[in-house]
Amino acid sequence: MIVAGVMSGTSADGINVALVRISERWREARTESKPQLTRGREPALSLPKGRPRHTVPEFKFLSHAEYPYPKDVRRTVLAAMNSRRASVADLARLNFLLAELYAEAVLATQRRFHLKVELVGCHGQTLYHQGKASTFLGRKLAVTWQTGEGAIIAARVGVPVVCDFRPADMAAGGQGAPLVPFLDYLLYRDKRAGRVVQNIGGIANLSAIPASPSPEQVVAFDTGPGNMVIDAVTERLFGKPYDRDGRIAASGAVLEHVVAHFLRAPFFRRKPPKTAGREEFGREFVQEFVNRCGRARKHDVVATATAFTARSIVHALQRFVVRGRGSFREFIVSGGGAKNPILLGMLAYELRPLGLQIHSSDEFGLPSEAKEAAAFALLAYQTWNRQPSSLPSATGAKRPAVLGKISYS
Ligand SMILES: Nc1ncnc2c1ncn2[C@@H]1O[C@H](COP(=O)(O)OP(=O)(O)O)[C@@H](O)[C@H]1O
Ligand SMILES: [Mg+2]
Repeated sequence: MIVAGVMSGTSADGINVALVRISERWREARTESKPQLTRGREPALSLPKGRPRHTVPEFKFLSHAEYPYPKDVRRTVLAAMNSRRASVADLARLNFLLAELYAEAVLATQRRFHLKVELVGCHGQTLYHQGKASTFLGRKLAVTWQTGEGAIIAARVGVPVVCDFRPADMAAGGQGAPLVPFLDYLLYRDKRAGRVVQNIGGIANLSAIPASPSPEQVVAFDTGPGNMVIDAVTERLFGKPYDRDGRIAASGAVLEHVVAHFLRAPFFRRKPPKTAGREEFGREFVQEFVNRCGRARKHDVVATATAFTARSIVHALQRFVVRGRGSFREFIVSGGGAKNPILLGMLAYELRPLGLQIHSSDEFGLPSEAKEAAAFALLAYQTWNRQPSSLPSATGAKRPAVLGKISYS
């Protein structure tokens, strides 16, 4: 089955569409009490209750395309994310407008690669995510909200659409994120090498996959900002949406005391599972960050934001993942941040003492900008087959859940 995965992340830069072919390897289990093993010694990923069937999806990446949001759409999305007072009417309109854009992106990708999609998995645009419960009207609630109306996409593309993946995990007691570790586990597990798979989108998140793992051994969490702080200071000080190829950071000096100060933020001390968003590293954080840089040169502020981002990732690894040199050997980077050589250079420098070598996800057959979109194609496929796709070890949920809502065309 050819599935389109559609992703638009917290950077709100635009839409990524990945087309993947997924087929199912399945075997009848002889008895339900004795799970059938697949792929050598590895247990099946999903064990649906009451169904004597164990499946391992097989995944082949086909193609990827990227569609930047028009400027005014990006501005509106960012304003909605950061707003304490948004117009309800405008939010409703945005929900339908984004769906039209997602549908157009899928249709354009089909045409471009001469492929026909049979199912769409659309993450939607997160407007608000609060993975940890807090009190609202007397009740403790964890909440999340992704926009992009599935029914519109299904009608325009003419195939079923799975969207709204996060709430089912939260209903099962999880934080609704990260969800990509399901793909990471499937694609990157290795018998010999422990691997850390790091995505650097607006937010940065990792999946640490020990050698010969079972799904429960995958540790995954948001490490903190990805490009979000770098983008925001670049926009503020240079009027550009991001520091292309790290050119600005390259000619700045890092203010070490600022990096050290912000690494003491409570988020970095919190144990995983944990999630971050604009709520932690958005406008208010950036205001503080710029203030603390004082009268430094503008270039130095961007260099400092870049160093802070790299260091927060490495600290997360030291604190929560790496137990002794050699337990993890490969560090596989994806997301738009993989395109920033200064950020990657800083990471490589700090990772060497931990015995980790940096690789791009491209080396493993999945272009770094396509990975998250590809993940939502896989999650949609699971849902379409009524199979769970969350990893409780990553989200903190009590059980794996079948994620998302289906709109039929
Ligand atoms: N050539 C580049 N140089 C530096 N940064 C880049 C480059 N290309 C993309 N990026 C960064 O990647 C971000 C988009 O990454 P992406 O993985 O799409 O994030 P998200 O999933 O949050 O949308 C941009 O906002 C920018 O910060
Ligand atoms: Mg993006």
